[in-house]
Amino acid sequence: MDYIIKTQGLNYSYHSGQTALFDVNISIKQGEKTAVIGSNGSGKSTLFLCLNGINKPQKGSVFFKDKKIDYSSKGLLNLRRFVGIVFQNPDDMIFSSSVRQDIAFGLLNMGFSNSQAEEKIKRISDFLNLGSLLDKPVHALSGGEKKRVSLAGVMVMEPEVIILDEPGAYLDTVNTKTVYKIIDDLSLKGKTVIISSHNMDFVLNWAESVIVLKYGKVVFNGKTEDLFLNNELLDFAGLYEPQIIKTYKMLINKGVIAANSTAPKNITELEMLIK
Ligand SMILES: Nc1ncnc2c1ncn2[C@@H]1O[C@H](COP(=O)(O)OP(=O)(O)O)[C@@H](O)[C@H]1O
Ligand SMILES: [Mg+2]
Repeated sequence: MDYIIKTQGLNYSYHSGQTALFDVNISIKQGEKTAVIGSNGSGKSTLFLCLNGINKPQKGSVFFKDKKIDYSSKGLLNLRRFVGIVFQNPDDMIFSSSVRQDIAFGLLNMGFSNSQAEEKIKRISDFLNLGSLLDKPVHALSGGEKKRVSLAGVMVMEPEVIILDEPGAYLDTVNTKTVYKIIDDLSLKGKTVIISSHNMDFVLNWAESVIVLKYGKVVFNGKTEDLFLNNELLDFAGLYEPQIIKTYKMLINKGVIAANSTAPKNITELEMLIK
């Protein structure tokens, strides 16, 4: 088994009749940093909801490790210990009245005692700097604070796979940096992190592998550098070239960088090529 999550022939339609995913076949390797990208409405969020069983596909299957998802309530509860998802909009996932209750919800559901839950909440809120928010009512939080609380609610469960749907949305620069730092820590701990993003420079620098969706179909599933050096594919998928790659190509044209050099992932690597 060379994947942790895999889909086979996945089709998903909403009640409205809108088909959001067509014959999606993807596999995600354990511990690999994976980005899912594509225009608005291409099916990223729908796919994520299929990966942790919230959406049940009308056709096809989702596998976690070597098992098909079991859609019974017990099966789903079990799956969510291993696959956690942070929604793009924190209002979609926060529903308890206080921050502490909200973070505790999943833990208590999983059968942890109040004191065990409390200990885990203490640890995660220290890590995410949420201590001063724990006793606040959720409705009194700013968008960015809510986002951090929803992240805490997932991280506290310590799932093996963490899916983040546009983690930069609703966050200012400082909080975006904090969240990116947390994401790096999760990868270092060996977690499998899956992210959707519209920031191509972030994807280039962060992701090891990329899945590109267009109108609910997978148009690319492979190595990040293979995608970003393929302008035809980028155009076809409605994606833009990362600034770093644009600059790299411009410097090759001007003879500043050797044409056979390896494409840089970030500004530091680009600078090394110039020296
Ligand atoms: N709750 C919903 N009901 C009906 N259609 C939906 C719903 N959510 C998404 N869709 C439709 O499904 C398609 C995929 O949407 P979505 O997965 O949200 O894309 P993305 O996350 O890439 O922007 C779009 O055509 C969207 O309009
Ligand atoms: Mg979305």
